[in-house]
Amino acid sequence: MNRRPAAHAPAFATRADRPDHRPEVNPYRDAHRLYGPGLVPAEDAPRWRGHWHENFGRSAPIHLELGLGNGHHLAARAAAHPEIDFVGLEIRYKRCVVAAERARAAGAEARVRVVRYSWFSLDDLFAEGELSGIHVYHPDPWERGRQAKHRLIEPGFVLAAARLVAPGGELRLKTDFKGHFDALLAALPGTPWQVMGASLHVARDGAPWPDDIVTGYQAKFNEKALPVYAAWLRRGT
Ligand SMILES: C[S@@+](CC[C@H](N)C(=O)[O-])C[C@H]1O[C@@H](n2cnc3c(N)ncnc32)[C@H](O)[C@@H]1O
Repeated sequence: MNRRPAAHAPAFATRADRPDHRPEVNPYRDAHRLYGPGLVPAEDAPRWRGHWHENFGRSAPIHLELGLGNGHHLAARAAAHPEIDFVGLEIRYKRCVVAAERARAAGAEARVRVVRYSWFSLDDLFAEGELSGIHVYHPDPWERGRQAKHRLIEPGFVLAAARLVAPGGELRLKTDFKGHFDALLAALPGTPWQVMGASLHVARDGAPWPDDIVTGYQAKFNEKALPVYAAWLRRGT
């Protein structure tokens, strides 16, 4: 039976058909596509799976950072470690562009690829053992119970990270949300990850690794003297 639309509600097939519709234009959407080899859009990224060494043009160790934010950590770490190539994942167009520009300004452009992709689909992007390290700094907490399904740090992620990082490689987590710290440690039994060190308050007690770089989000928690939790894992054989 055909339903007749109510007189006061004209039937438009989609929102874009409405006469008052204004297309939402995110200028960074085009900017991220046109950026150049330092920024890989989602549609191009999976073809590099297993071939990131070719993308970088050398076979250096590859570290992955998840959720770059403003890219401060990625640029600083890449500038400090010319022996490592870095892939940084970020979902937001603007943050991808800002992070790629920051890496360029730090003189690390040749060794950094910012990729617009979700951290929930890492197996699309990397082959088993292709990475030497994963950095996760202040992933969104999704604190309330019903939001927990959006959390990055859960057993599936810990196993995926173990698949993608070669033996001897590392995983670093810093978080303002103790739930992430606890979830990471709780997921370790039965996996190849070994705990190298941990901190319950990085600004007060120091980070477990020797070369910490304060991230954009971490600085906000440091200013308020709030704890930032850190865990450093090494992948055994
Ligand atoms: C709280 S911010 C932390 C940014 C940065 N790591 C720092 O410490 O300053 C979390 C970042 O993760 C990004 N993000 C959220 N969900 C994501 C996803 N599914 N895949 C990739 N990045 C994501 C957000 O856009 C945001 O930039």
